[in-house]
Amino acid sequence: MDVVVTGMRSTGELHIGHLVGVIDNLKKLQETYRSYFFIADLHVLTTNYEHTEDFKKNRIAVMLDWLSAGVDPNKATLFIQSKVPAHTYLHLLLSMIVPISWLERNPTVKEMIRDLDLKENASYGLLGYPVLMASDIILYKAKYVPVGKDQLPHLEMTREMVRRFNYLYGELFVEPQALLTEFPYVPGIDGKKMSKSLENDIKIADTEENTTKKIMNAVTDPEKIRLHDKGHPEVCNVFTYHKIFNKEEVNDIERDCRAGNIGCVACKRNLANKLNTYLRPIREKREELKKEIDKVEDIFVEGSKKASEVANATLDEALTKMNLK
Ligand code: TRP
Ligand code: SF4
Repeated sequence: MDVVVTGMRSTGELHIGHLVGVIDNLKKLQETYRSYFFIADLHVLTTNYEHTEDFKKNRIAVMLDWLSAGVDPNKATLFIQSKVPAHTYLHLLLSMIVPISWLERNPTVKEMIRDLDLKENASYGLLGYPVLMASDIILYKAKYVPVGKDQLPHLEMTREMVRRFNYLYGELFVEPQALLTEFPYVPGIDGKKMSKSLENDIKIADTEENTTKKIMNAVTDPEKIRLHDKGHPEVCNVFTYHKIFNKEEVNDIERDCRAGNIGCVACKRNLANKLNTYLRPIREKREELKKEIDKVEDIFVEGSKKASEVANATLDEALTKMNLK
């Protein structure tokens, strides 16, 4: 069975963009591949090293979100990056062979430094972001890595590191391929990119009331003020959501909006109901799991042990090839 590895940085509770994007994809992958899904908590340190106070809470939030949405520990190995020390050991070995020039021209790292305004605060660890990521992937000899477009430079660098290692010390690692999956893009309720800091996100863990409130406050077509005004669904963010979460009615809504047969208040209320109905079973499961946090953590501890067996075996092979054994 082909191996798939993917990681997600734990920066807090996940939103519905993650749900219909990453999580739905994990659920498909776990049916077909030998899957390793992990929480990339060490990668969070590359930019958030000054603020580790929420690390535990954020890891637990991701665990709860994954499990309640249907990521299945019986089908995939679920683990925590920092609980599999082989990742950090191989990271160090790779760091010896990767030229600084490769790292310095990585566009995704450059973008992170620019977007987060890190300047001279950008750390050695951040520069090595793709080295840790390579280590995450090749320890499991993964064939495929599902990632977003922004991660492609990292994956290309993983392939270069594999070639370099294999050339220097003998064939061992496998060059992984990206699995680029087109996700429905879910913008924030204000039309901007969905993000925690903009408070425009609808979280899996939100309450129904909160979800409804966020949707009722959403901006719609500015030209549709009264019920009978003719609207333009293509500029309306509520309509974007109907397209994703209310496929059965979307055509009727488009027609009625254009004809001025529905008002935005009713349209939003309808969306809030649909979205809450969609999220209800996930939220109920999340509440149940929250009552047994120890069990949830155990799942990831057990997964980390299983992952360690595979990762340690590969690390041993690498050490042997490098005459460190
Ligand atoms: N860098 C990835 C992201 O931000 C997360 C990640 C870390 C990852 N290690 C990985 C993804 C290994 C795939 C494989 O999305
Ligand atoms: Fe948007 Fe619905 Fe209002 Fe049309 S009726 S503008 S789709 S909220």
